[in-house]
Amino acid sequence: MKVQKNKKKSAGFLKGRVCVVGGAGHVGLPLGLVFADRGFEVVVYDLNIEALNTIRSGRVPFMEKGSAALLEKVLKSGKLLLSNDPHAIAGAEVVIITIGTPVDEFLNPDTKVIKDCMDRLLPYLDDGQLILLRSTVYPGTTQWLDKYLKRNKKKVRVAFCPERVVQGYAIEEVQKLPQIVSGVTPEAEEDAARLFARIAPQVVRLRPMEAEFAKLFSNAYRYIQFAISNQFFMIAHSAGLDFDRIIEGMKKNYPRAAEIPRAGFAAGPCLLKDTMQLAAFSDNQFSLGHSAMNINEGLVLYLVAALEKKYRLDRSVVGLLGMAFKAESDDIRSSLSYKLKKVLLYHAKEVLTTDPYVKTDPSLLDASEVIRKSDLLILCVPHKAYRKLRFGKKPVVDIWGFLNKGTGI
Ligand SMILES: NC(=O)c1ccc[n+]([C@@H]2O[C@H](COP(=O)([O-])OP(=O)(O)OC[C@H]3O[C@@H](n4cnc5c(N)ncnc54)[C@H](O)[C@@H]3O)[C@@H](O)[C@H]2O)c1
Repeated sequence: MKVQKNKKKSAGFLKGRVCVVGGAGHVGLPLGLVFADRGFEVVVYDLNIEALNTIRSGRVPFMEKGSAALLEKVLKSGKLLLSNDPHAIAGAEVVIITIGTPVDEFLNPDTKVIKDCMDRLLPYLDDGQLILLRSTVYPGTTQWLDKYLKRNKKKVRVAFCPERVVQGYAIEEVQKLPQIVSGVTPEAEEDAARLFARIAPQVVRLRPMEAEFAKLFSNAYRYIQFAISNQFFMIAHSAGLDFDRIIEGMKKNYPRAAEIPRAGFAAGPCLLKDTMQLAAFSDNQFSLGHSAMNINEGLVLYLVAALEKKYRLDRSVVGLLGMAFKAESDDIRSSLSYKLKKVLLYHAKEVLTTDPYVKTDPSLLDASEVIRKSDLLILCVPHKAYRKLRFGKKPVVDIWGFLNKGTGI
């Protein structure tokens, strides 16, 4: 592995157009904005016409720190173009792929999405382009793509440079974090390194499959870390103990425990599915990954069982506070709040939901209304705004230790 500190300016290379495929999404748009801000002409190519229109009107379709001002700037400068027409990729020097790469209903990687995407792009690819995968991919995808493009007589260079930002802070992080770059050939690697040297402080060179694993290992590691805390929480709770008191005691001036996360819902569009991509790669022998899934997904069921022991759910209106998959986010993809809602609909008299940021769910109510109408409240997401809420004498369940009032179960 070679680590290379970037000089502020890399010698007049890559002056042409960059096309971001899936560029209206959570990864593609911030990346496109940053490249446009650094002087590239960026074409955002996406199939989602509604999202493209929103962006064209100067609005970012999701929460992303610093994006509104940057979008206004690059729209004004004419550096950001938007299109749902694949012709847009013709003539681009670099084509960056940032489409979603989900697992299917059996938790197997849906490798077809990359092939379908490439099949649509094939007629418009030019010889000499750098095709750069940015999506998180199943191990071996980069090599597969190279072979597939060669089979289709395309003389392009193929690279893989995984996105490693935390969602919502991409604009900041993509310019701060070292960028892992890899290429199928030394030329592809070099071009990818030069491209990212234009926006990031450092590039780290790996081989394609190493880079693919580096990304998947990072997400699986994080997912397992959350599972450890969630398992400890359940053990402590079933022993009648307060997990937060234990964790605080463990962490107090003790560096080796400093990184242990709090308990809480570990969800979202990446951690579980990337852990399952690794599991699929290892013929379902990734027992730690599967255990993490059982624990993190099982926390919801544990919570409902604990609620049933303490409250008459069948007579209670239950209010869920926070429906996004994590704090300070408007993204509900794979949110465990919705899993909890689904389970509670069987057990409770009624379930009401609220979130200060989510705009995509018409059933959401104001927090004040949910508090007023509910007999029992569950803090599903520790949005900062919830610190200011007043609950009166109503019980609040808080497995996060966010409100410092005990778990309520
Ligand atoms: N969300 C994150 O913070 C994050 C962080 C690191 C890595 N990733 C990875 O990045 C990838 C993208 O994730 P995301 O959260 O941005 O997904 P997203 O759904 O927000 O964005 C994907 C975009 O691609 C578009 N799209 C889908 N198929 C297309 C096609 N064939 N042609 C053109 N556009 C197409 C969609 O319309 C959408 O706008 C995934 O592989 C994910 O695992 C995400």
